[in-house]
Amino acid sequence: MKSSWKMDSRILDYLMLVLIQSIAILAVTDNNDFAVLTALRSSWTNLPRNWGDGDPCDSNWEGVNCTGTRVTNLSLAGMGLVGRSISDVSSLTALQSLDLSNNVNLSAILPPSIGNLRNLSVLILIHCSFYGPIPDSIGSLQQLVYISLLGNRFTGPIPPSIGNLSRLSWLDLSDNNINGSIPVSSETSPGLDRLLNARHFHFSRNQLSGSVPSQLFSSNMSLLHARFDGNLLEGSIPPNLSNLRSLNELYLANNNFNGNIPNLTGLINLTYVDMSNNSFSASGVPEWFSSLQSLTTIIMENTRLQGQIPVDVFTLPQLETMNLSNNNLTGTLNIGNSYRNNITLDLRNNSITNFQQSTTNYNMDVELVGNPVCNTNGRAPSRFCSIEDPRVFIPRLSNCGAMSCRGDAVLTPTCQCSRPYTGTIHFYSVSFSNLQNVSYFNSLNGTLMSLFLSDGLPVNSVIASNPVIDLYSYMQFTLQIFPSGQDSFERRSVSRIGFLLNRQPFHLQYFGPSFFIDQPYCCFSGSNNSSHVGIIVGVTIGGFILVLMIVLAGIYAYRQKKKAKRAMDMNNPFPSWDPEKESGAVPQLHGAKWFSFEDMRKCTNNFSETNCVGVGGYGKVYKGTVDTSHVVAIKRAQQGSMQGAHEFKTEIELLSRIHHKNVVSLVGFCYEQGEQMLVYEYISNGTLKDCLSGKSELKLDWNKRLRIALDAAKGLSYLHELADPPIIHRDIKSTNILLDSHLVAKVADFGLSKLVGDTGKGYVSTQVKGTLGYMDPEYYMTQQLTEKSDVYSFGVVLLELVTGRAPIQHGKHIVRLVQEAMGDTKNFDQIIDPNLDSRAKLGGLEKLVDLAMGCVKEFSVDRPTMGEVVREIENIMELANVDKKTNHTEFSSSSFEKSTDESPLRSYVAEEFDESYGSFPFRVERN
Ligand SMILES: *[C@@H]1O[C@H](CO)[C@@H](O)[C@H](O)[C@H]1NC(C)=O
Ligand SMILES: *[C@@H]1O[C@H](CO)[C@@H](O)[C@H](O)[C@H]1NC(C)=O
Ligand SMILES: *[C@@H]1O[C@H](CO)[C@@H](O)[C@H](O)[C@H]1NC(C)=O
Repeated sequence: MKSSWKMDSRILDYLMLVLIQSIAILAVTDNNDFAVLTALRSSWTNLPRNWGDGDPCDSNWEGVNCTGTRVTNLSLAGMGLVGRSISDVSSLTALQSLDLSNNVNLSAILPPSIGNLRNLSVLILIHCSFYGPIPDSIGSLQQLVYISLLGNRFTGPIPPSIGNLSRLSWLDLSDNNINGSIPVSSETSPGLDRLLNARHFHFSRNQLSGSVPSQLFSSNMSLLHARFDGNLLEGSIPPNLSNLRSLNELYLANNNFNGNIPNLTGLINLTYVDMSNNSFSASGVPEWFSSLQSLTTIIMENTRLQGQIPVDVFTLPQLETMNLSNNNLTGTLNIGNSYRNNITLDLRNNSITNFQQSTTNYNMDVELVGNPVCNTNGRAPSRFCSIEDPRVFIPRLSNCGAMSCRGDAVLTPTCQCSRPYTGTIHFYSVSFSNLQNVSYFNSLNGTLMSLFLSDGLPVNSVIASNPVIDLYSYMQFTLQIFPSGQDSFERRSVSRIGFLLNRQPFHLQYFGPSFFIDQPYCCFSGSNNSSHVGIIVGVTIGGFILVLMIVLAGIYAYRQKKKAKRAMDMNNPFPSWDPEKESGAVPQLHGAKWFSFEDMRKCTNNFSETNCVGVGGYGKVYKGTVDTSHVVAIKRAQQGSMQGAHEFKTEIELLSRIHHKNVVSLVGFCYEQGEQMLVYEYISNGTLKDCLSGKSELKLDWNKRLRIALDAAKGLSYLHELADPPIIHRDIKSTNILLDSHLVAKVADFGLSKLVGDTGKGYVSTQVKGTLGYMDPEYYMTQQLTEKSDVYSFGVVLLELVTGRAPIQHGKHIVRLVQEAMGDTKNFDQIIDPNLDSRAKLGGLEKLVDLAMGCVKEFSVDRPTMGEVVREIENIMELANVDKKTNHTEFSSSSFEKSTDESPLRSYVAEEFDESYGSFPFRVERN
């Protein structure tokens, strides 16, 4: 029986092959282009499944568009492509548009042969892993209108030949390692000043050096956006900058510019300007502040502004945001009474001494902390002198009652389950300050929705949520795009959505230009079998073969389905997973116990609310008692955040192997009745975050903080250096460091952990997960995870211990805050946690801050290992004369005893939401 089926299937395969080949004879695609696509098919993986079926142009291979017989459009964004060369693409000589964005495993150079693509007008390679220099031959692509190479690892200079691209409108080279100076033309060489049609120069965050040449600002240029921020540029800004009368947005921040603050009076269309953190000569508030009527945003942090702010600045009709913090502004702050409502005004750390009250009720946000005016009672409204939490838009969640979805599915706004294409959209700028005003989000959703629908994409809805201001002051949102009429997207839709979001053929009110970085899509729906076969058949083959093919295709599909089911059965190791029956697939558990659902239900009073001690994106945490006296925390996954059986098994195997004093240990697990629960030891004193933020009554003096730092470092160093296999935690943060009854710190929550070693390369390349504020910027950009990413996060925790602040407050990252304060004793004193003693009593403070800053170095190679961190903290404690051992009696003080009894929230709450912390809640959903 079995063998005859096997033979049938071989005949079937053969017949299918013959049929497909006979179709190929009728091909319409140019032979050369066909050969190129075939070559790509064998050198890249994860290409759409229908590549190879029939003829590319005739049968519409996904991501390929043809004009006549030639391939003119290759659009493979977000496919998860893996490849090491794109040289073949250079032979698609009729290509007009090439988009390979969001394929981080496409790791290649841009070959000089790219210069053969003489018809190319759009080139988008955002967020892949391209490296090496940008070839000079790019200057021969005379049709180019749009280039974005953002977020790769390109090195070397900007090729001057780009200056030959006379039609170029958009040039984005941001987030690479491009160096050298900005090329301008000479008698013998082209340069960027020849790009008279350029609207967008985006060169942010590279290594560009030298001065900005004045030729770039000739009055023939028509730039809208000029982004030079985050480079090593120096010298003074050429005065003819004011020639750029069409300029909307100007970004010069974070360079080494000196000389005078430029006179922008001529830039009558300017809406957004950021010149922060440069070394300009000291100057008063420039007059253009009050004369440029279009300005919505002025950001001039740390630019040596001095003197009094003229009152007419506040009458600008469009003004939303003004950040002049960390300057030397003095005198009286007079906002007047004809200011615009809802302005956000950040004047922290200046020398303002007085406040002139013009009305009784200011409808604006002013921050004056760090000014003398806040030290004298009553001069300024007190709310201007206190640190307020940022106002954040909380997206309306659909009210779908108790509904929930399985697996990767998510509820749409209309309460259906489907699987959204998800990613992050980053805006270089926004023109509003009020993040609570829903209008802006609706406007964004609406524009994107109509973009997709007018393109014929099967999109049901779009949700933008979780606004976050990232390290680089970009506003970013999580974007979920839901499919309509089906439960997941086809590949062609995903690549088209990616293309539209990165090509930006739309104008968004209130939002500047953007780019889109996706999370690899979980679940492309297959499109080839059904519709596709039908089309070929209809077009090319007569009656008899048609019938035969339909029959064959039916059998084929049936067989594939059977195969799939068999594979699925084999994929579930758990049916045999009952310890009573000691059979095959029982996982390798080291001391972790199996609990029945009934055990769990009983010990938590039927999962009662009073036992619930924490809630997170994955579900709830309950306190319970097992084996009559053992207090545990039970983490119960909810529908929709369950892992696959294999992942769950892997996770408990991993967790059960971990045994260290400074790591929370797994007691057991439950996998029954469709539930997944992890049972941990109960840690009674809650999270480090609670202690630092004042939510808990526990107060941590300096010595306790040093001990906690040492404990946590030891736990982490164990995971990196002693656990077998080593583990990268991936989500180190103060909510994941728990304190037990003796204030011994324990590292918790390995839900997001990754084993090291499987790849053999010393890094694990994976989808970026973690918590904003703690996330290693290098990991974020390269998606390559190493132990050093944990070291970065640990550095942020150390800074929290010193400052008592959240990693991001007021959109400002703690690393930058400390960096800025470090040179200056007065400022530095201000950032130390006010709950700590005076600075003189904090032994080893400077050394600990130095260590923390070493941990958060930009490049991971410059950061210490966790082992080195442990040793350095030990040294610091020795110098500060702190006993390294936790002194038990020290903590049986009455306040501590009291707090354990009274606070119901002391517990395993590692993943609770971050609302109270003054930072933006930012969670990347688990798969
Ligand atoms: C990239 O490659 C690595 C290893 O080859 C793999 O584990 C990872 O899933 C890939 N990432 C994507 C997005 O395909
Ligand atoms: C700035 O430029 C405008 C005209 O372009 C000029 O009238 C004004 O005096 C300049 N301001 C300063 C301070 O030089
Ligand atoms: C929200 O923003 C829109 C657009 O700027 C504005 O018209 C509206 O008045 C704002 N609403 C509130 C409540 O501020």
